[in-house]
Amino acid sequence: MDFSQVGIIGSGTMGLGVAQACAMRGVNAVVVKATPGSTDKARAVVDKALDRAAEKGTLTGDEAAAAKGRITLTDQHDAVKGCPLVIESIVEDLETKQALFQKLCGIVADDAIIATNTSTLSVTALMSVCSNRERIAGLHFFNPVPMMNLVEVIHAFETSDEVIAKLMNFCKQIAKEPVLVQDTTGFIVNRLLTPYILNAIRLLEQGTGTIVDIDKAMSLGAAHPMGPFALADFIGLDVVNAMAHNIYDDVRQQYTAAPHTLTRLVLLGYLGRKTGKGFYDWSQKPPVSNPALQRPVA
Ligand SMILES: NC(=O)c1ccc[n+]([C@@H]2O[C@H](COP(=O)([O-])OP(=O)(O)OC[C@H]3O[C@@H](n4cnc5c(N)ncnc54)[C@H](O)[C@@H]3O)[C@@H](O)[C@H]2O)c1
Repeated sequence: MDFSQVGIIGSGTMGLGVAQACAMRGVNAVVVKATPGSTDKARAVVDKALDRAAEKGTLTGDEAAAAKGRITLTDQHDAVKGCPLVIESIVEDLETKQALFQKLCGIVADDAIIATNTSTLSVTALMSVCSNRERIAGLHFFNPVPMMNLVEVIHAFETSDEVIAKLMNFCKQIAKEPVLVQDTTGFIVNRLLTPYILNAIRLLEQGTGTIVDIDKAMSLGAAHPMGPFALADFIGLDVVNAMAHNIYDDVRQQYTAAPHTLTRLVLLGYLGRKTGKGFYDWSQKPPVSNPALQRPVA
């Protein structure tokens, strides 16, 4: 069974990315802005992304226009009432997400699937506050969603096999490649990737290399499309910081703890590309490493 409409809660980087990927494959997306305020900015972001896809030739102009028409933006959670699948993509905080899950269980049909796009939180912990727990699962997309093919489909403690099968099928419907993962903090990709980014920050703190040289080393020496600092800025430093905390809480190993520099950058609002500055200053063309990081962050 294909999904013709999905609900998405959260209109940040990932929520809009998932909406775009759905709309490009003919699926209607009802996107709920989960915090107060106008939806105008989110509308402008997703429209611009679709215009860019048309300019690049990924879509025709008509396809881009049709995809825009499939995306509805609202600040009303009730708008997802009739959706057979709702994907949560709000801030990476357990209590906030649990409160949302409880609210959604009171809105959607008993058999509607509620999936989380969490990067590292326990899907089972989200499931714990829900009724009909067999319909709770994880759908972990990657950034930028329209370009990244992988989705980790997370099987939590009480998720039913039927729900997993529907989600695997949904991924294929929107031209994504699913992998099935048992619920583990960080799943597969972030469990491996987060310590890698944290270790790069420790190398910077130790003076082993500069931001630019560490990135260059991993791009050219390990054939990564971008180095760990550009990647961290791309993901969002608040998201990386939250992932580090969640993985550390689970495994209690020092190598998974957030380094001082990361915590301080987040505290100061240097969140990476989405705020214009993180390890790099993205307002420069080409981006330059953040001048504030020429000296230790106290
Ligand atoms: N950025 C990535 O690379 C990436 C990749 C995969 C999954 N994720 C996960 O996707 C989710 C969203 O991440 P993002 O990168 O889109 O972040 P973002 O900062 O771009 O967007 C976060 C969204 O959460 C909303 N929000 C903030 N505080 C809230 C609150 N108190 N209550 C309800 N909503 C609130 C914001 O309005 C915004 O729409 C997170 O769980 C994150 O871990 C992120």
